[in-house]
Amino acid sequence: MNVNSSDNNEIFWSGRFEKPPHELFQQLNASITYDWRLAPYDIQASIAHARMLAEIGVLSTAEFSEIELGLGQIMAEMAQGDFAFELADEDIHTAIEKRLIEKIGDTGKKLHTARSRNDQVATDLAMFIRDQCRRHLSDLIGLMEAVHIQAAAAKGAILPGYTHLQRAQPVLLSHHLLAYFEMFARDFARLQRALEATQSMPLGAGALAGTNYPVNRDQVAHELGFRHSGANSLDDVSNRDFALDYLAAASNLCIHLSRLAAELILWSSQEFEFVEISDEFTSGSSIMPQKKNPDACELIRARAARVAANYQGLAVLLGGLPLAYNKDMQEDKMYVFDTVDILLLALPLTAEMVSTLKFNAGRMRAAAEESFALATDVADYLTGKGVPFRDAHRIVGRLVRKCIDEKKNLSGLTLEELRVESPQFDDSFYSVIDLEVSLERKVSQGGTAPVQVAAELESAADRLEEMRQAADSLRQ
Ligand code: ARG
Repeated sequence: MNVNSSDNNEIFWSGRFEKPPHELFQQLNASITYDWRLAPYDIQASIAHARMLAEIGVLSTAEFSEIELGLGQIMAEMAQGDFAFELADEDIHTAIEKRLIEKIGDTGKKLHTARSRNDQVATDLAMFIRDQCRRHLSDLIGLMEAVHIQAAAAKGAILPGYTHLQRAQPVLLSHHLLAYFEMFARDFARLQRALEATQSMPLGAGALAGTNYPVNRDQVAHELGFRHSGANSLDDVSNRDFALDYLAAASNLCIHLSRLAAELILWSSQEFEFVEISDEFTSGSSIMPQKKNPDACELIRARAARVAANYQGLAVLLGGLPLAYNKDMQEDKMYVFDTVDILLLALPLTAEMVSTLKFNAGRMRAAAEESFALATDVADYLTGKGVPFRDAHRIVGRLVRKCIDEKKNLSGLTLEELRVESPQFDDSFYSVIDLEVSLERKVSQGGTAPVQVAAELESAADRLEEMRQAADSLRQ
């Protein structure tokens, strides 16, 4: 966005000043270099405000029509890139109002009756965040769909599940992937709640105290898609909870994107070779010809840090402020815009990357087989024969120790060797020491048994459909 630095235009509030703003202060004070993104919302809100002013008799119908027409033309100028942004205009609200006066003359000067930039900017930002939440919700559906398709396709593939990054117990790859589905489903609900937090309209609060006009705030609220107008004018102009709620929901979502990215970085390494990330999301090294680096994942991980920092930034900014509006709040938008841009890129990118992943089921299975991932099942086998679990744990621990020393697997132990540790072992041990058998026994609700995972896949598909419908209805 090009912002001119000529200062040939008079400032609206110049009346009580003898000197114009210092050039350096002008730079510090201006938000137009970034808040131009609020323009469509500002214009829409101005039209609704003017319509209401006409209905309560503050403007004539003819004046309203002039204003509406002028604002519509300004919207078109912006869409065509014909709008001249001036640093001296400070912010997008002033720039639009000035342009309106330029276009329609004195009638334009009446638009700012019964409002302030303080209630104006809070309204614009709430509308902006509401729209972004809707976009993120449908992008998130796309990502959950990609995860679900991969989970359904991975049926039967087994890998060692990890704790402390040590091979722990075998799990189905579908089950592992569906864990991300659950995280994203919670993010979906969080974004819905963030959207809900934008439902109260600040416009009509004036600078902070309300206005001297019998404004019909609820009419404006409904025209602009808010559920109601705010209950307290001081709170209306200083409330940015909805921006914090948005950033908190975005931070949580990005933490999940980051964990998925981190796992893909690990799994695509030569040490793991569990997955291949498509060439489209990786890059090479300028010196090492063999390299295929998971840069997309690394950058998603890095941007998650930025989103978390954006939440922190706004939280600290707001925490120190007395009521009501303070200019510090002008900078709320930087945190929000940066986060929006990150999510608008990260969500569709991750969806696309997930749907092009190629899993290496052979490597995963081998890793599960080479490990002592069935040790817990052996302990449970003894428990089934009446050995208390704590004793069983110790017996199997000793057998694992022996296997490590002798470089063999638990299945390589003879019955005699097993019986040295516990007379409860018999031939049935060898049918327990099997990946498929181990999985089939994880029948507890939410466990990794194939029957449980099939049900999980089915219920995830149903929930996805419900979420899709919710996202669609919010877009209308
Ligand atoms: N540009 C400001 C913001 O984004 C709104 C203007 C409030 N200015 C004022 N002098 N009260 O927060």
